[in-house]
Amino acid sequence: MLLLQFPLLAVLLAGGDNADVVQEPISFYLIQISSFANQTWAQNQGSGWLDELQTHGWESESGTIIFMHSWSKGNFSNEELLDLEMLFRVYFIGLTREIQDRASQLQFIYPFDIQVKVGCELHSKESPKSFFQVAFDGSDFLSFQNTSWMPSPEGGSRAQNVCDLLNQYEGIKEIVYKLNRNTCPRFLPGLLDAGKMYLQRQVRPEAWLSSHPTLVSGRLSLVCHVSRFYPKPIWVTWMRGEEEQLGTKRDDILPNADGTWYLRVTLDVDAGEAAGLSCRVRHSSLGGQDIVLYWGHRLSMTFISLIVIVPLILLIVLVIWFKKRW
Ligand SMILES: *[C@@H]1O[C@H](CO)[C@@H](O)[C@H](O)[C@H]1NC(C)=O
Ligand SMILES: *[C@@H]1O[C@H](CO)[C@@H](O)[C@H](O)[C@H]1NC(C)=O
Ligand SMILES: *[C@@H]1O[C@H](CO)[C@@H](O)[C@H](O)[C@H]1NC(C)=O
Repeated sequence: MLLLQFPLLAVLLAGGDNADVVQEPISFYLIQISSFANQTWAQNQGSGWLDELQTHGWESESGTIIFMHSWSKGNFSNEELLDLEMLFRVYFIGLTREIQDRASQLQFIYPFDIQVKVGCELHSKESPKSFFQVAFDGSDFLSFQNTSWMPSPEGGSRAQNVCDLLNQYEGIKEIVYKLNRNTCPRFLPGLLDAGKMYLQRQVRPEAWLSSHPTLVSGRLSLVCHVSRFYPKPIWVTWMRGEEEQLGTKRDDILPNADGTWYLRVTLDVDAGEAAGLSCRVRHSSLGGQDIVLYWGHRLSMTFISLIVIVPLILLIVLVIWFKKRW
């Protein structure tokens, strides 16, 4: 059954020309961030993610799942989703209470944060892999391995104590095992399938150039901005003619609020050498037609005026010449 999904995976992931991109796993995971300010105040945030795309939120007041997209339910029935919602609700309430009751016994000193990342990933060749990782104040603390809780080396004796305690609860371990090994691997392919129109959409980039002086006088930083593209793989570089400019600096690709991406690519040059440079953008949405933006727009404006003015002068000369002859 899973094999049916792999052509889809390959299509989803083969955004770039790069063949090895296809090897990358795709994952679905839940993120929990719990902040404990003092003995009486705690806050839980929850969300669901398909790689870098948020698909679910958690309304902690009412204890309900927020479906961010029309396809966020995947192929699960409302009944199964309500069961999961109930499970998360009980989990958040129970966990908060347990931690507050045992904070001093476990040597948790207020304020502290607990982060949890739980989910599974599909590889195109292997069976799905699951993970359940817990961090305490931003460092690895413990994880669920196979059928039991294991402390992380960074967690020290405190993590060992927490694992010893958690490992006594067979019921919780069974639930976690089932979520990891059954629920998630069943949910992920259904979600990919339900969302395929959205996930396979192609959005053409918009590109524009800007510049600003650098700290070194006489040098300019040329910036090529590329925005609102989807999917994420993209190739952008500064060129002179057909030659890629080695000094090109590429920032991290940043998310736009609408789920598309934004990238800045910079080249520092001597102000006098900027003319003749161009920024070239290659993206799957462009169907092989790269976007090319030339620096030195002013130069081409002069060129355009020449094209207009020269024939005009010629025309005037001709008119005068004809008048003289008549
Ligand atoms: C607990 O922390 C919350 C949030 O920081 C604060 O508003 C509240 O006054 C604190 N309560 C006590 C008893 O310290
Ligand atoms: C996982 O746990 C089960 C039951 O305890 C055991 O039979 C199995 O060998 C374990 N697998 C791994 C990879 O540790
Ligand atoms: C959802 O899709 C997955 C993968 O195709 C499948 O294993 C599962 O049975 C489907 N339905 C439910 C309710 O999980």
